[in-house]
Parts: sequence; C-alpha cells; structure tokens
Amino acid sequence: MVRSIDIAPSGDVHVTVSLTTAGCPIRNTFTEAVTREAGTVAGVQAVTVAFDVLSDTEKSALQKTLGRGSMPAGALAQVNNVLCIGSGKGGVGKSTLTSNLAAALTLDGKSVGILDADVWGYSIPRMFGLGSERPPVSPERKIIPIQAHGVKVMSIGFFVEEDAAVVWRGPMLHKALTQFLEDVAWGELDYLLVDLPPGTGDVSMTLAQLLPQAQFIIVTTPQPTAQKVARRAAQMAGKVSLEIAGVIENMAGFATPSGERFQIFGEGGGQSLADELDVPLLGKVPLTMPLREQADDGTPLVFTDPDDPAAQAIRHAARGILAMSPVELPVLQGPAPTGISLPMAG
Ligand SMILES: Nc1ncnc2c1ncn2[C@@H]1O[C@H](COP(=O)(O)OP(=O)(O)OP(=O)(O)O)[C@@H](O)[C@H]1O
Ligand SMILES: [Mg+2]
Repeated sequence: MVRSIDIAPSGDVHVTVSLTTAGCPIRNTFTEAVTREAGTVAGVQAVTVAFDVLSDTEKSALQKTLGRGSMPAGALAQVNNVLCIGSGKGGVGKSTLTSNLAAALTLDGKSVGILDADVWGYSIPRMFGLGSERPPVSPERKIIPIQAHGVKVMSIGFFVEEDAAVVWRGPMLHKALTQFLEDVAWGELDYLLVDLPPGTGDVSMTLAQLLPQAQFIIVTTPQPTAQKVARRAAQMAGKVSLEIAGVIENMAGFATPSGERFQIFGEGGGQSLADELDVPLLGKVPLTMPLREQADDGTPLVFTDPDDPAAQAIRHAARGILAMSPVELPVLQGPAPTGISLPMAG
C-alpha cells in the first residue's frame, strides 16, 4: 500500500500511502506508524505522510495478494450489495435493525436476504416468526432460504433444535459460514444483510475474508462509552479492509405518549462516531415499545406500524442506504441528441 517514497538530499522523507477507502478509520495509525518507522532510519531528518486511494483494480489485486477472493465465482453473483450490521458490543439492536432494515428495503421495492451470522445467539428466525423448520434443498443440492414477509432468511437456527446452544470451533465456524454463502440459493438480491454477532471476533473476520466487497454498518447507542466500543468494530473493519458505509444510532431517546422526551442513553454518540469515521449517520432510532414487541412477535415493526417513530427512523436509514448503493445508469440508445449532454433518467 506504499505508493511512493521520496527522499530529499536534506534527509526529508515523503511517503504516500494508498488507502482502501477515503474514510479509512485507521488513517492516523498509518501516519504514526510510518513516521515512527521511517524516523528510525539513519540520516532521516523529517517524515511527512500523505494519502491517496487505491483504484478498484488495485484493491482487487491487493485482495488477491492477501489471499482474499476465495469465494468461488458465481456463489453470490446475483447479489448486488452485501451489508454487514455490526457493533463492538452486544444488545445494541443489531438484529432488530437488520430485520427492520430488510423490511424497509423490501417496502422500497428491493429484493432482500438476511444471513444470520450470529451462529451462537441467532435471533433472526424469531424476529421473522420462524421456528426451527428445515429449509428445503433444491435439485442442484443448494439450500433454499426460507421466505418470510418477502425476505429470504438463512440462519443456523433452522438446523438445530429450538433454543439449543451451538458450540463452534474455529474451522467448523469458517466452514459453516462459507456454506451459508456458497451453498445457499440466494438467487437475485438487491441487498444481502448480514446480522453479525456482538464483538469483533472470528465471524466478522471470516466474513470479511469471504466477502471483500461487503460494506459495514455500525450500530451504536448514544452514550460516549458505547461509541468507544463501536470504534473498535470500526478499527476491525479497517484492519480487514471492509468499507464502512455508515453509522446508525439506536436507542436514541424515549418519548412518552404525552410527548415528554428522555435521553435514557445520553446523546450525540452516533454523530460523533460518524464524524470521526467520516461516514454518514444514517439514522437515529428512538426507543419504542412496539419495536421490541414486534421483534418478539415475529413481524418487523416497519411492516405493521409505519407511523411508529422507530419505524420511521429505520425507513429513513434505509433510504440513506439506497442513496449510497451504486445504481446502474440508463444506457443511451444511439447518438445523444444535440444540445443535451447529460443522460436523462427514464
Ligand atoms: N430502539 C429500540 N426500542 C426498543 N427496544 C429495542 C430497540 N432496539 C432494540 N430493542 C430491543 O433490545 C433487545 C436487544 O436488541 P437486539 O437483539 O436487536 O440486539 P443485538 O445487538 O442484536 O444483540 P446481540 O448482540 O445479542 O446480537 C431486544 O429485545 C430488542 O427488541
Ligand atoms: Mg443480535
């Protein structure tokens, strides 16, 4: 990732480092490390560090060098966007947001799948009203995801006794996740949302390895301590070169039916994390009882009560996701009419 090193006769050294993404959360780490290491070389007087961004071709070449891209071609060929929903710690609402974002994207006309990658504490089946039914297998011996409320769902919960504890060791975990991606007939999807387990452990690393094109959405609560924990998730994403698409603040305040507001978990954590990572704050989702009740009942709130403030905030976040995703521009047929130089959306 070192683009260039210029050494002046005076001993001044200028290093340019190419980042995988302009919003790289560990930019400062690079500056410090390069300055420190180059500074130890005899004769070096001063070190300056500058950054540019790797092109897509360079990025995929780098991924190959690092042993990435091990997914067989075609496994997710018809999946346009992969979004991993993660956080540094547990219980901040990743699964609730994953299922409701899936609902919101579905309502916006997108085809959506959810991979429940929380193999220990899977909760997506319950949030979609699914038990431990076994998904069918196609004649091509692919596992067919279970459709619930128009969303294709895959979870380890379908393969174990209801509420059974699952114990995984490293290699088996890697195998299971690989299978969830390779051997599942995901078909055509606009979005595959991946519900990550809490923390920055094995699952996230494995997925990052299998899905170098995935983007990361970080969920945090509003208090500054939670933000510190969420930053670790961001650093992890940076280490494995996953791009961070944005931050969602969850549990941002509670409003009583009479309209009185309580900032139970403090304020501002989502915005400061987003600022720090230089990514958008996609939404601030308030605490509401129906969001929890609907999750327990098995239908995402966004489907049942679009007016609930939490449902509205989640739909807003989904629109942000839509706005960021690459769109295919309409192809102009024949020569462009004179006088009009911009392609017009049809
Ligand atoms: N904005 C909210 N308002 C009310 N309840 C919420 C909200 N967000 C999440 N919850 C509730 O908080 C609990 C934890 O949420 P959830 O399971 O989605 O978190 P998680 O981050 O996926 O947890 P884990 O780390 O264990 O996977 C659930 O009971 C959920 O219904
Ligand atoms: Mg969860």
